[in-house]
Amino acid sequence: MAHVLVTRRLPFPALDRLAAVHDIDVWPERLPAPPEELRRRAAAAEGILSLLSDRIDEPLMAAAPKLRAISNYAVGYDNIDLAAAAARGIPVGNTPDVLTDATADLAFALLLAVARKLPQAQQDVRDGQWVTWEPAHPLGQEVHGSTIGIIGFGRIGRAVARRAEGFDMTVLHSGTSTSPDLPLPELLAQSDFVSIHAPLTAATRHLIDAAALARMKPTAILINTARGPLVDQRALIEALYQGTIAGAGLDVTDPEPLPADDPLLEAPNLIVVPHIGSATHTARGRMADMAVENLLAGLAGAPMPHQVITQ
Ligand code: DGY
Repeated sequence: MAHVLVTRRLPFPALDRLAAVHDIDVWPERLPAPPEELRRRAAAAEGILSLLSDRIDEPLMAAAPKLRAISNYAVGYDNIDLAAAAARGIPVGNTPDVLTDATADLAFALLLAVARKLPQAQQDVRDGQWVTWEPAHPLGQEVHGSTIGIIGFGRIGRAVARRAEGFDMTVLHSGTSTSPDLPLPELLAQSDFVSIHAPLTAATRHLIDAAALARMKPTAILINTARGPLVDQRALIEALYQGTIAGAGLDVTDPEPLPADDPLLEAPNLIVVPHIGSATHTARGRMADMAVENLLAGLAGAPMPHQVITQ
């Protein structure tokens, strides 16, 4: 029986399977443990089941000399210092595939909602502003038959492309090793919708900056369900106010959560939701199953079913 730190309550049956065979210490609060508390609790841990909001960095690993398995409850793993884990020979697991469709659905929900101005339309009804059917209010963008540019053509990007095909959209993509792949500047210039599905790395931080936004059509809409820092948020605010682009739908921001007084929230034609791409009963339950399977394997010294390649 190993000692395992679980950094948040996971209300799914998978955690019972972990607790049946290992001694688990579950951080009980709604908010993440402060870094010093995480390090204190990690001191005795042989395994950690972490969330994307926990920084599993070098100082934490240094404070956890018994650590031999890290399992992230997310497909993304930019919260984990992979080099530090590799240097210690600690395998890192993630949860791919099971959240692909949920995240692609959310990207499309944002795309449709921004394009057809659903928040404003609903607000008009609630505010008593729906006084009559009007020929030209509120007018949105046509989604059917338009062009979507998908940045990052991995599992989720391809799932968005499949949805786009149902809307007879032309699909452009960049950011993959497979061909045909369009250079990013061309994708930005040709797309009516740009949807980001790339991982956050040093190379992709602020991939969408002021110059990238300036390449987009003034009628274009930006969707980000990947990671907030892929977009330079100051540049996005400016672009929304200046009409450089027509709107944006964000599931992710920088930072998360976004302070209630962040200027981004005042920007026009913007929808922001709180990182809910994978938030379906099915996806989150399967993520828990996968995270536990990864941890059980790692603690047993076996290859994790979904192990991040660290070298
Ligand atoms: C992930 O898994 O990386 C998503 O951002 C949250 O489910």
